[in-house]
This record gives sequence, structure tokens and C-alpha cells, in this order.
Amino acid sequence: MGSSRASYLPSTPFRFGCLICLDNQTGTNSASSSSALADLKACPLRSVLPQQPCGAQVDAVGPVDCIYNSGVRNATVLLGELLHRNMQCHFLNMPTNSGKTVLITGCSAGGIGSALAQAFHDQGCRVFATARALPKIAHLRDMGIDVLQLDVEDAASIASAVDRVGVATEGTLDLLVNNAGLGQSGPIIDSNLADSRKMFEVNFFGRVATTQAFAPLLIKAKGTIVNIGSIAGVCPQPWKGMYNASSAAVHQWSDTLRIELEPFGVRVVLVVTGAVRTNFLTNQAGAKVASDSIYAPAKESIESAMNGKSVDKNFVDAHGYAREVVANVLRKHPVKRHWAGGVARLIWAVSVALWATAWDFLLAEQFAINELRKRLALKNVAEQ
Ligand SMILES: NC(=O)c1ccc[n+]([C@@H]2O[C@H](COP(=O)([O-])OP(=O)(O)OC[C@H]3O[C@@H](n4cnc5c(N)ncnc54)[C@H](OP(=O)(O)O)[C@@H]3O)[C@@H](O)[C@H]2O)c1
Repeated sequence: MGSSRASYLPSTPFRFGCLICLDNQTGTNSASSSSALADLKACPLRSVLPQQPCGAQVDAVGPVDCIYNSGVRNATVLLGELLHRNMQCHFLNMPTNSGKTVLITGCSAGGIGSALAQAFHDQGCRVFATARALPKIAHLRDMGIDVLQLDVEDAASIASAVDRVGVATEGTLDLLVNNAGLGQSGPIIDSNLADSRKMFEVNFFGRVATTQAFAPLLIKAKGTIVNIGSIAGVCPQPWKGMYNASSAAVHQWSDTLRIELEPFGVRVVLVVTGAVRTNFLTNQAGAKVASDSIYAPAKESIESAMNGKSVDKNFVDAHGYAREVVANVLRKHPVKRHWAGGVARLIWAVSVALWATAWDFLLAEQFAINELRKRLALKNVAEQ
């Protein structure tokens, strides 16, 4: 694990030692446990239980700070034993994917990238978490995760990240997660095109540039590109039109990339992401309808809808979402179009079961289109 603390280890110092529990019946433990044992050499190793632990074995070991486990059955038994004894300790599953290298863009605290970095790290991957401002990923560095500066709009910054990863990994990268992105709220007719171009630069061209730069490392590793897409690329949610368009561009690009890179052994996974609680909406909070806009008659209702009020209840926790994404990506045969996050599966069902323009009436009430229609009619009457 290099000079930093082994990725499985808790950040608090060991007082008693750790207990390693191997489940020989699972068949999954041999590689992971031997590498973990090597990593744990520096720790005060309390005991290794060769088989499924029983209460007497746990009693014999005594207090421990940390338990490493390689089998699901052991996890359940151990948890029972610990609860029974009121023992406080970290309880970690033995990582089974140690050695896989992952670079993730846009890992600022509180976002999807940060949650993904932690979820890959928990699985024993070597994670390069990146952000355009390093202070925003200090929390990941403190967990023993490698951090790098990477602004997807800046070719020099991307090139520097490629160099640094290349040196650390002998020129390979198993997983590139294109996550960095931003939104834009407001009616399409009123969109500030400079802001829209900036958004496309990050959400679309930034991914293209990052992928092109890391392609040689990914090809060498026969790796996987994970594109964090959005239900917005499928569902034409009003007042997010420019963001929807950037998401749809990402989806089409990702699908094409999958076909073009398949002959090189590189896989491409698109995560069609539903509602996930992050800084995404807060970063665009306060979007307004201008008082001279054609939408001004329903200004308040539209502002409420475009600032996320109507979809607030749909948001899921970023860590749960990240664990689901990581579990799929690390499978031998990942789902290539993975729908994850709040309402993602509902959007999938509508998109496959109904006709393309069904959204017109499905979204009208929730996003204040009906309200707007009423207000415009009243305005017309008043002006006559
Ligand atoms: N949250 C959702 O419900 C949801 C749903 C569907 C899809 N998504 C997608 O998920 C991805 C992550 O979003 P999130 O929800 O985690 O939002 P977030 O908390 O706002 O995170 C976005 C991340 O992208 C970074 N970023 C912005 N511009 C960048 C640039 N030029 N170079 C590098 N990084 C940059 C941000 O950095 P700063 O902190 O420096 O701004 C931040 O780290 C986005 O692509 C978004 O479209 C989110």
C-alpha cells in the first residue's frame, strides 16, 4: 500500500489489535486475505481465526479494535458475538478487489464523486480522488486516499494527472469514473448561452478530454470507463432543458464509446443516475425567472419547481447509491446501462413502456406547466 496507511485500516490508532477472520468455505478469501495480511503486518495482529468463529473463540481473543472478515456467514456470526459482548470495534469486510486502480473526477465533499471514492476505497481499490480545488477533497486524503488536482476544463491539469497516475501505476488505470458536472436551471428561452456553453464544457467536453487523455492507460489495463449520466438525459424535465441536453449528449457519446472501445478490451458503463442528495441543487440554488420573461406570470410556481421543491422527496443517500454503483462496476460482467438513484427505475419503466411524448402530460402538473397555462389564459383575458 505504499507509504500511506493501508486502505482498510481505520483512521483511529489501534489500542488492542485486530482480529482477522477467514472463511475457508466461501472460496473467496485466499487472494484477498493474503494481501490483506501482508498489508496488516505493521498492525498489532491479535489473532487469526481460521474458520467460522464461535463465541468461545471470540472470548479467547479478547478486546480488539478492528475486525477483518472475508465471508458473509462469518460477518453475521461475528456481529452477533460482538453485540452479545457489547464490544466496540470497526467491522470491515475483507476487500476483494485490492489492486484495482480508480480515478474519479469531481470528488468534492458531499457529492457523488466523494461517496464513490469512499465506496471504491472500502472495496480495497487504490483510488485517485480528484477535484479542481484540493481543499475540497482533504477529507478523502485523511482517509488514506490518493488525491490529485484535476480540472476537466484544463488540458494541462488533465495531462499532469495522467502523468502522476502513470508513474504510480506503471502506466495503467483500471477504472476511470467521469463524474464531474454541473447543472443549469431556467427556461430554455431565457438561457444564458455563456453559462450553457460553460456547462457543456464541463459535463460533455470535459469528459471527452479526460477520457482521451487516460485512454492509453485504460487500454493497457483493459479497464472500464464509468460515465455518471442522468435521468435528465432521458426525461425532459422542464426548466432544466440545457442540462437535459448535456446529459443526453453524454449518454449518446457513452454508448458510442462503448462500441468503439470494445475491440480494445475496454468496457464502458453508463450510470443513468436518479435523484441523489448532494450539493448539486444547492450549487444552482436561487435560480430565478426574470420579471420580463414570458414565464413571469407563473414566476413563483416555476421557481419553486426548478429549485427542486417538487422532487425533494425523491433524493436518496449518496453513499447507498455509491455502494450500488461500485458493486455493479466491480462485477465480472457489469450491467452496461445501470439505472441507480431515486426514481431512476421509474423513469426507466416510463421510457420503455410509454411513447416518447408521454412526458408532456406526465410532467405538466409537477413542473407548473398547467399553472403557467392557466395564468397565461387569465392574462390574455385581462388584456382583452
Ligand atoms: N445529484 C443528483 O441528483 C444527480 C442526478 C443525476 C446525475 N448527477 C450527476 O452526478 C455528477 C456529480 O454531481 P453531484 O450530484 O455529486 O453534484 P456536486 O455535489 O455539485 O458535485 C459536482 C462535482 O463536479 C465538480 N466540478 C465542477 N466543475 C468541474 C471542473 N471543471 N473540473 C472538475 N470538477 C468539476 C465539482 O467541483 P466543485 O466543488 O469545485 O464545484 C464537484 O466536485 C454530475 O455529473 C451530475 O450531473 C447528479
